[in-house]
Amino acid sequence: MQRTVSYSRTILSQIMQISMANSAGNIHGGEIMKIMDSAAGAAAKRHARCPVVTARVDELEFMTPVHVGDLIICTAELTFVGRTSMEVLVTVEVENLQEEAPPTAALTGYFTMVAIGPDGRPKPVPGLIPETEVEKRRYEERRKIYLQRKQAASSTKE
Ligand SMILES: CC(C)(COP(=O)(O)OP(=O)(O)OC[C@H]1O[C@@H](n2cnc3c(N)ncnc32)[C@H](O)[C@@H]1OP(=O)(O)O)[C@@H](O)C(=O)NCCC(=O)NCCS
Repeated sequence: MQRTVSYSRTILSQIMQISMANSAGNIHGGEIMKIMDSAAGAAAKRHARCPVVTARVDELEFMTPVHVGDLIICTAELTFVGRTSMEVLVTVEVENLQEEAPPTAALTGYFTMVAIGPDGRPKPVPGLIPETEVEKRRYEERRKIYLQRKQAASSTKE
């Protein structure tokens, strides 16, 4: 079985609360990472239709500060799948609800999620069908990184 990228694309929005901020009103990075992890988990579960765990987070980049009262919009979409793992790109946009300006890019990161079967072990997931040019390019880029990582892991075991 194979599923498209759009099949599992997930958008999670949340207003930033005072309990998530430091004394200057800036939201802690860890609070946003938690929401990103939830969005990545939801997209991966939609794709695999089973429980998943987070195995790895890569290339987390904080580009814009987020403040109390801002709305964040987290979009999670699969970029590549291996046998039991799924890589999810999460992009976060931030919107100041009191200003006319459109949302701006605040954070991005890649989350590797692993599907877990009833025996508690990794289980195979459906293949991924990239449809758009962007999805196809990303799929190839991330496939190369996945294969390099596999090779590095097997050479450290030898
Ligand atoms: C992720 C986990 C299930 C992998 O178990 P494992 O016994 O190493 O299983 P495998 O070696 O068969 O690997 C399973 C898949 O995970 C991938 N994987 C495992 N560790 C990884 C890592 N550090 N980075 C990227 N991918 C990883 C493997 O490449 C493999 O993918 P593939 O089947 O698509 O090729 C296990 O390490 C684990 O439970 N980790 C803790 C997860 C957790 O608690 N997360 C936080 C809460 S959700």
